[in-house]
Amino acid sequence: MSTVLLVAVDPAFGERVSSLPGHRVVSADRQADLSPSDEPRSDLHPDVVFVGSGVSEERALTYARNVLADWPDLVMVLVAPPTRGVARRAAKAGFAHVIDPATDAADLARLVDGETRDPEQGTVASVAPRVVVVASPKGGVGKTTTAVNLTAVLAAAAPWEVVLIDLDLQFGDVASMLDLRPEHTVVDAFASEGVDSMYVRTLLSTHAEGFYVLCGATGPADCADVTGDQIRKLVSQLSASFRYVVVDTSAGLLEETLSSLEEASDVVMVTALDVATLRSARKALDVLGDLGLLPSGRHVLLNRADRRAGLSVRDAERMLGLPITTVVPMSDRIALAANHGQLAVGTKRNPLRKPLQVLTAEITESRTVHHTHRGEKLS
Ligand SMILES: Nc1ncnc2c1ncn2[C@@H]1O[C@H](COP(=O)(O)OP(=O)(O)OP(=O)(O)O)[C@@H](O)[C@H]1O
Ligand SMILES: [Mg+2]
Repeated sequence: MSTVLLVAVDPAFGERVSSLPGHRVVSADRQADLSPSDEPRSDLHPDVVFVGSGVSEERALTYARNVLADWPDLVMVLVAPPTRGVARRAAKAGFAHVIDPATDAADLARLVDGETRDPEQGTVASVAPRVVVVASPKGGVGKTTTAVNLTAVLAAAAPWEVVLIDLDLQFGDVASMLDLRPEHTVVDAFASEGVDSMYVRTLLSTHAEGFYVLCGATGPADCADVTGDQIRKLVSQLSASFRYVVVDTSAGLLEETLSSLEEASDVVMVTALDVATLRSARKALDVLGDLGLLPSGRHVLLNRADRRAGLSVRDAERMLGLPITTVVPMSDRIALAANHGQLAVGTKRNPLRKPLQVLTAEITESRTVHHTHRGEKLS
């Protein structure tokens, strides 16, 4: 049984944590419990510590630094509205998560269970990180739309456990689609050789829907010299800190796409209902297969599906040699949301939510039927 220590959290939050089955929950409500040693009570041996709003942010950050110096394995969680500034300062101090005080019991259970699961019990595979690369040989087919909205759907089930990386290194537009004004971008992550994962966490922007974003470069020259090794290292660092890493890529099979695929558990090939796009998607799948870069989770998202195209989903499947489980219709609501810096899945009667929930289920439950790109079922 794991031990969860609550430090200065509000009573309603404390009650929700205390209701979680399978954990011993101990409260240290008074600020005095944080001093004079600034250590969790040594008799408790906590696995997870929630630090709430009963202490100032400065005090909470100092506490985390001191405690983690002695117990680096402790999982520290700051309970505070996760604004961009707070998330950055908290990550710098060593907090593993920043969660909103209103987080419900189901999400708390997921967080605590995920952090305290004993790898010896063999159940860790279900929470092994998933790295999902969204790719397409063609431009403008909906990769970024898919990546940002898929991230939001994943975050709804696993708040603050999802990070989206904009690896469209030339013309990345994730920040614009999410109306973020990042202080740092992916360029900072490649700035020097010895960048560690804690530093990378400080570069992340936060989105109000409960996920992190490593925003893209501001110009095409900024990442001209980035190597495959740097990409692989970045993706692997973030997958060590997050349950889900979603990667948006640029059109084609550029170095950054191939390198991120080396770290990937899943690829989402975005295509459209026209012969040229389907053919190029098929070719891209063939090339990735030949290079050994097709991860085991393979998903095709057919975007802008429209009956008037003269092709059916079945025709598309025949051309691709892969089943299509995610079909997104053509919809003004999707384009409008993007133009307003909103998540389409967050708007009313949006046509993206259901298809992306199906895709999310495929990814999280590994329900994908694995086929080769020629349509043969893999054994
Ligand atoms: N199903 C859809 N219905 C209507 N508009 C859509 C749909 N999907 C995407 N769009 C719009 O199409 C445009 C291109 O989408 P998006 O930027 O996601 O494509 P992309 O593949 O990332 O492009 P690029 O290759 O330039 O990075 C955007 O304006 C987006 O809002
Ligand atoms: Mg894009």
